[in-house]
Amino acid sequence: MIPRHVAIIMDGNGRWAKKRLLPRSAGHRAGLQRMRSLIGHIFSRGVEDCTLFALSVENLSRPQEELDALYGLFFEYFTSEVPRLKDSGVKVKAVGDLALLPPRVAEAIACAERDTAQNTAHTLAFAIAYGARRDIVAACNNFVREGKEATEESFSAALSTAPLPPVDLLIRTGREMRLSNFLLYESAYAELWFSDKMFPDFTKADFDRALEEYQKRDRRFGTI
Ligand code: FPP
Repeated sequence: MIPRHVAIIMDGNGRWAKKRLLPRSAGHRAGLQRMRSLIGHIFSRGVEDCTLFALSVENLSRPQEELDALYGLFFEYFTSEVPRLKDSGVKVKAVGDLALLPPRVAEAIACAERDTAQNTAHTLAFAIAYGARRDIVAACNNFVREGKEATEESFSAALSTAPLPPVDLLIRTGREMRLSNFLLYESAYAELWFSDKMFPDFTKADFDRALEEYQKRDRRFGTI
């Protein structure tokens, strides 16, 4: 089976740059190039939806210089890539708190969402200024405010990832083996795949290896 929803923690840009004596921003630019080339490939393999972790709420405390470089890349991507995504039937979705971003970046992302809202073939979600705990707490507070009791379904629907299905395969590059506050609720039964490669070095063939491994896994969802 091909995973319906793949999520990727794109980690290792900084170390990729450091190894080459380059500024961290060069690592993020290389990461963006890699991301661009992977997206079409991921969907060509039959994956319906993909969520990419680009910036956590915790990352917002990085030096301003690095954040500005990232914001510049986000702006560049969301203002230039929309026509291509639109033609490929991809709906862009922001997952995270856009209010924490500079207004022109938030507006570029919101504009990409609006321009692709009619597409139905794929959803490409970007977790930007995102934290899973923050998202879960916000959903809880909504239920409290409305005086309603949550079910697993209604709770999923209250998260910023709704209406995406649960994550089937979660890939993390960069040799770290942790979830770092990413899609904690949505990944309850995700298959995990960790790559030693830094994200700018993570190729289409590496992605295919993760898919092959996923296909060998026995997903029992707690049953026998
Ligand atoms: C983590 O690596 C990566 C990030 C914080 C940024 C990821 C961003 C991109 C791949 C560009 C994405 C662009 C768009 C448009 C979404 P790190 O910097 O923590 O690496 P390190 O662990 O080696 O220091």
